[in-house]
Amino acid sequence: MGKDPQLEETLSKVQKYLECFHLPLEKLQEISARLKKDFNRGLGKHTHHRAAVKMLPTFVTATPDGTEKGDFLALDLGGTNFRVLHIRVNEDEQRVMKSQNCAIPQEMMVGTGEQLFDHIAACLGEFVNSQDLKGQTLPLGFTFSFPCEQKEIDKSILIRWTKGFNCSGVEGEDVVKLLKEAIHRRGDYDIGSVAMVNDTVGTMMSCGYKDQSCEIGMIIGTGTNACYMEELKNVKRVEGMEVKEGENRRMCINTEWGGFGDDGALKDILTEYDEEVDRTSINPGIHTFEKMISGMYLGEIVRLVLVKLTQEKLLFNGETSKALLTPGTFETRFISEIEKEDKGVENTKKILADLGLTSNAVDLHIVRLICDTISSRSARLCAAALATIVNRIRVNRKLDHLKTTVGVDGAVYRKHPNFSEELQDMVRRLAPQCDINFIVSEDGSGKGAAMVTAVAQRTVCLCGTRY
Ligand code: GLC
Repeated sequence: MGKDPQLEETLSKVQKYLECFHLPLEKLQEISARLKKDFNRGLGKHTHHRAAVKMLPTFVTATPDGTEKGDFLALDLGGTNFRVLHIRVNEDEQRVMKSQNCAIPQEMMVGTGEQLFDHIAACLGEFVNSQDLKGQTLPLGFTFSFPCEQKEIDKSILIRWTKGFNCSGVEGEDVVKLLKEAIHRRGDYDIGSVAMVNDTVGTMMSCGYKDQSCEIGMIIGTGTNACYMEELKNVKRVEGMEVKEGENRRMCINTEWGGFGDDGALKDILTEYDEEVDRTSINPGIHTFEKMISGMYLGEIVRLVLVKLTQEKLLFNGETSKALLTPGTFETRFISEIEKEDKGVENTKKILADLGLTSNAVDLHIVRLICDTISSRSARLCAAALATIVNRIRVNRKLDHLKTTVGVDGAVYRKHPNFSEELQDMVRRLAPQCDINFIVSEDGSGKGAAMVTAVAQRTVCLCGTRY
């Protein structure tokens, strides 16, 4: 390709449309600097109420040391599935003894909170029954992957729903209380102490068992977010946790970086396609950064660009299809399939045909270019945000050089053919004084919830105080 002047002209026109997605290194540095300011605002005593990046305290103050043990139940709610797990932690492993997936029907995701929690309690009840765990009242780690203002490890108020959820009567309420009430309404089983965990924290904690320098957890899946270990003296928003001079105590902070830009801080890089995705979402104005990055939205951004370029007669001979014009039809997983090294072209043909589109070789090339542009922007934005965290940890600890590990999970990171590589390369350029190791977490949020509960129990045993 490339010699035909008409083709050259088409490609250069396409490139012009895609320019708005390009983020050079200097721009990413600027974005990272803005996020750094937002981190301070989120942690500040008087500024956190209005901060776009919430920097939520998690009350997790220690990472695993490898001595934790016991049997735990874990619930994992927040992605596309709801899972119940029975986990055994001992000296050398965290083992999933058994797990079960329960579907959450679409209507339930936007129904009443009571329905949702009754459903959760029913799935848990069924699991406890089938595993003969009924009489044991095991401690339970609850991975609830939404922004929560945590008051204690077992008191967690939902600030707002994100991703596809919007159940009534839950925002502003204590999620642990809602879960316990639903279990008591049934009355056929009970649970022990509860620890609330965000999925980022679960991911960090599950990797922390293998690698004790794991002090960052990152998710790039349906949504995106990260947590990290912050110096307790910087967490000014938590009352009553004064730190004495010279003490190095830390607390894990759930950044909720998905909210970055909700105050207009990313206006200069938002494209017309991002604005449209936001406008047509169930939560306009909320989680701006997440909507440029995560699996729930990437496919839709690609679809909107495809529609635009077709209308401009740069694709498919100017002919759209009913499917292409329907929101949600271009799934995010198609991007990974199209960008695959070996089967990419074949996959693209099939996906386009299934969407009722007739394509030629140039169309296939352009569609791949669009997918690459959108996934690459996502990886670079994540890199900028992660660089903000590692640079912050390095400065916090007054180090010239930081060696650290990030536990990662999420389908976008795992399944896309070169997302992880692009993200890692870019973070290294944005944080040259940091040496970062990435571990993909297996069953991270479930196992991590058990770990949080286990670490909490260990720290109670050691110092006799509540965690
Ligand atoms: C959304 C949620 C956040 C979660 C992330 C990844 O951004 O608000 O709590 O960690 O998705 O699942």
